[in-house]
Amino acid sequence: MDKDTGEILDNVKTFWDDKYAVFNANEEIEGELNLANQNIDLKGKKLLIVAVGTGKEVVRAARAGAQVYGIDVSSNAVSNARAMLAANSLSGTMVVGDAAQTSFDGNFFDVVWGCSVLHHLDHEKWAKELDRILKNDGTAIFVEEPTFFNRVFKFAYETLFGKGRIGRRRKRFIFTRRGDEFEKPMEESDLSNYEDQFSIEKIPYKFMFIEKISHVVFPGNGKMYALFGKVDSFLLYLFPRIKWYGYSYHFIYRRKSPGN
Ligand SMILES: C[S@@+](CC[C@H](N)C(=O)[O-])C[C@H]1O[C@@H](n2cnc3c(N)ncnc32)[C@H](O)[C@@H]1O
Repeated sequence: MDKDTGEILDNVKTFWDDKYAVFNANEEIEGELNLANQNIDLKGKKLLIVAVGTGKEVVRAARAGAQVYGIDVSSNAVSNARAMLAANSLSGTMVVGDAAQTSFDGNFFDVVWGCSVLHHLDHEKWAKELDRILKNDGTAIFVEEPTFFNRVFKFAYETLFGKGRIGRRRKRFIFTRRGDEFEKPMEESDLSNYEDQFSIEKIPYKFMFIEKISHVVFPGNGKMYALFGKVDSFLLYLFPRIKWYGYSYHFIYRRKSPGN
């Protein structure tokens, strides 16, 4: 993101501030933080939620007993998260900023957690920042990350909207690209930024190949998503190994040398 970092981040911030302009702090929040089956007791742990978003995950983490910190580029998201914590009589430290460049102390967090956020970040910068703020024996968990692991999907996407992360088209024919300016599904080349320090476990989550067609053709139409998703389920049933070429993954980062 180097040359125009400020301008791009401003665009990204405006995009998400609009999304989080309206919210209900008193919304009932059920469920637990998705740790992707990692056996981690959050009680007393210093946990960073990267991109507090809707604020729900901050509440879930605080309920599990973690000392919760959160960061988001959107000031609305951060205000919402603060209000949600207060409405649930919980506490946490929420800051506005770019997750790839924080002012948290080094070697501070036991757990760094994010949902659908890794693909928003500048990987070169975030790899250094994650290495700096995560404790030596800490774990980073990123759930529900979109990927380009399916080459057909990547080819179709890039043909429609363009390559890279900057200056892509929003609309082509009847297809609409959603999301902010900078986000892009994860690729092996993105993950390689982290691999000097971390070994990364990749856990396929949702296949979503045919379903993705409905996302661009019928944006926001949940019924069509579900219908197209059924075709995915059938394909997976017939050919279970194709799960590795799915769209959505969980990534677990563990240090290669936890003692250092
Ligand atoms: C797809 S949303 C996911 C939000 C949240 N994880 C959730 O599930 O509600 C992406 C989030 O990333 C945030 N974001 C985008 N770029 C960011 C950056 N550079 N630093 C911090 N947050 C960022 C957005 O403001 C938004 O809240």
